Amino acid sequence: MRPVELKKDIYWVGAVDFDIRNFHHYSRAPEGSTYNCYLVRDEKTVLFDTVDAHSYGEMVKHISEIVEPEKIDYIVCNHLEPDHSGALPRIVKLCRPEKIFCSVMGQKSMTNLYDTTGWPIEVVKDGTRLSIGSRNITFLETRMLHWPDSMVSYLEEDKVLISNDAFGQNIASSFRFADECDRGQLLASMKRYYYNIVLPYSPQVLKTLKRVQDLGIAIDVIAPDHGLIFRTPEDVQFVLDWYRTFAEQKPKLRAVIAYESMWNGTAKMAEAVADGLDAEGVPYALVNLQQQHCSDVMAELADSSALVLGSATRNNMPMVNMMACIAHVKGLRPQNLVGAAFGTYGWSGEAPKIMADALVEMKADVVGEPLKCYFNPNADDLAKCRALGVEVARALKEKCGASA
Ligand SMILES: Cc1cc2nc3c(=O)[nH]c(=O)nc-3n(C[C@H](O)[C@H](O)[C@H](O)COP(=O)(O)O)c2cc1C
Ligand SMILES: [Fe+2]
Ligand SMILES: [Fe+2]
Repeated sequence: MRPVELKKDIYWVGAVDFDIRNFHHYSRAPEGSTYNCYLVRDEKTVLFDTVDAHSYGEMVKHISEIVEPEKIDYIVCNHLEPDHSGALPRIVKLCRPEKIFCSVMGQKSMTNLYDTTGWPIEVVKDGTRLSIGSRNITFLETRMLHWPDSMVSYLEEDKVLISNDAFGQNIASSFRFADECDRGQLLASMKRYYYNIVLPYSPQVLKTLKRVQDLGIAIDVIAPDHGLIFRTPEDVQFVLDWYRTFAEQKPKLRAVIAYESMWNGTAKMAEAVADGLDAEGVPYALVNLQQQHCSDVMAELADSSALVLGSATRNNMPMVNMMACIAHVKGLRPQNLVGAAFGTYGWSGEAPKIMADALVEMKADVVGEPLKCYFNPNADDLAKCRALGVEVARALKEKCGASA
């Protein structure tokens, strides 16, 4: 890997993590990820963000191919989560910057995360402008996109937006730019990232998009801190349009059936529910939580507005991957869902009701009663499952029709 110039004297100097699959220890990243940071050479040499601690060497190698790291004057920390700041203590020690810029909340987390004794921290506010020579930088706070400290850096003359976690995707590749990558792969990765990381902050996304529009900021390049960089007018528009679509969460005519089973009874029920959806012409994804991760459910929800949960009852509870799935999905606050629940049982059968209650807490429109089948579902039971699938399909059609 080599540093890549995005615009004159603006370089990508980050790290590509081909190995990572467990992003932030909660979301699968089937294609790895990158930690992007950017070096700008002007009267002042500025490093925007750093990388995670274990990628420090790769970042320093890239910086060194452009300038001696000791020549860095300023470091900008748009966000202090360790995937962007883990390498900060070592790079500060190496280059002894004149200033380190961050938001008020950034300073709070920086001084808690690291021993910042003697660090020349300078707090910037929303809208603060900084001249670095021939260039001016504007800092815009984007609180909760991703953390309270988050901000973005806009390079006015170059019209480059260094957007930190916003507009990211988890793709490890030798490519640096979105226009070099397969479009389907890019979009799938954007969906997985947004739905597993950004989704709860969708109101802030819509606010930020409006703000950018109101400020009339021209953007030639969106350079996020994960994945590929958007550098063509079509790609900038592509990612802005998709962010609006993701954030709006309008109903989509597709369902996700997520289930967990020990001896296959609940799996048979899941297939019968799918048959009911099929009969109504509603596409679906069937996610077996023994094989797939709860973040796969969220990736599927990017295209779906029905969530049907199935689990056998085990020790009076849904099974553990289902419980993890419920915790993961609920925390990400998906909107506008149709829901339903089902499962097999042997004596007490609490799981379907517990899952249905969880869907109610997610403000889903839950259809039908929680559906229980004794041990191995018989023909009558399977007919009820198909009927539940049909009911979900019809409720979803109505929801989608109502929003059209
Ligand atoms: C370890 C274990 C614990 C169970 N606990 C319960 C329970 O608390 N209440 C209940 O109704 N059934 C319980 N069952 C029975 C299962 O729910 C029943 O076997 C069901 O048919 C399994 O569905 P599956 O074929 O989808 O795995 C338990 C089964 C196992 C193996
Ligand atoms: Fe983050
Ligand atoms: Fe990040």
